Amino acid sequence: MAGQETVHSAGRAGHIRSFVRRQGRVSNAQQRYHEEMMASIGVPYRMARVDLDALFGRAAPRIVEIGFGMGETSAAIAAAHPENDYLGIEVHTPGVGSLCKLVAERGLQNLRIIQHDAVEVLRDMLEPASLAGVHLFFPDPWPKKRHQKRRLLQPVFLALLASRLQPGGYIHCATDWEDYAQQMLAVLMAEHLLENTASGYAPRPDYRPLTKFEQRGLRLGHGVWDLVFRRRQESLQTENNRQDQLA
Ligand SMILES: C[S@@+](CC[C@H](N)C(=O)[O-])C[C@H]1O[C@@H](n2cnc3c(N)ncnc32)[C@H](O)[C@@H]1O
Repeated sequence: MAGQETVHSAGRAGHIRSFVRRQGRVSNAQQRYHEEMMASIGVPYRMARVDLDALFGRAAPRIVEIGFGMGETSAAIAAAHPENDYLGIEVHTPGVGSLCKLVAERGLQNLRIIQHDAVEVLRDMLEPASLAGVHLFFPDPWPKKRHQKRRLLQPVFLALLASRLQPGGYIHCATDWEDYAQQMLAVLMAEHLLENTASGYAPRPDYRPLTKFEQRGLRLGHGVWDLVFRRRQESLQTENNRQDQLA
């Protein structure tokens, strides 16, 4: 993606970052909503588990969205599903400001934001088996061969994601890059905690709205691939037994 970069070394982060920090222009509105809203709906990153019931003020299914971009999809899904709670994770300030604005304009009560690297948020802040779902929509494709190690959906991160799902919880990925779709399918199929809900790629679930960018791509004949996997029901006991044996 364009913009100025500060490339963080894997050494400092402990893992290869899937993003570069961009200085991208923040509009006045994005800045204002960021300042006003993050005080109430923003959750600062900490190396400690977050109490999701306390955060949302209720018990409800919790769905994490990783890399929400400008947040249009996140706001549309949260508005259409008031019965669920949504936790959006994004590093890019204009995007966070944009979603803050949508939350304020629509009066959404069921959406919170963490502005930080999703790898660290999932690892440090979220309890195992705490999520009903994970959305990973159009993650940065890193198309150049030498950059592909930055792609977010890799086996180690997927194992972490799968561990945060409740048994029966789902992970839904979408991409418009065919070779990333193939990589996603292979990585998801190889994760023993998960099973495919489809045979191969899944039809787009109704809750995921078509983005403008995607509509344009589809008109031009470009493909989009959805993948929906679930955490196996029996996986929690198996995983607990495995941890006991390792202890
Ligand atoms: C190609 S954009 C897609 C945005 C959005 N999901 C959509 O469908 O339009 C990918 C987004 O993921 C964010 N991102 C990449 N790696 C991330 C990470 N490790 N943690 C949080 N956000 C990340 C980027 O800042 C960017 O906004």
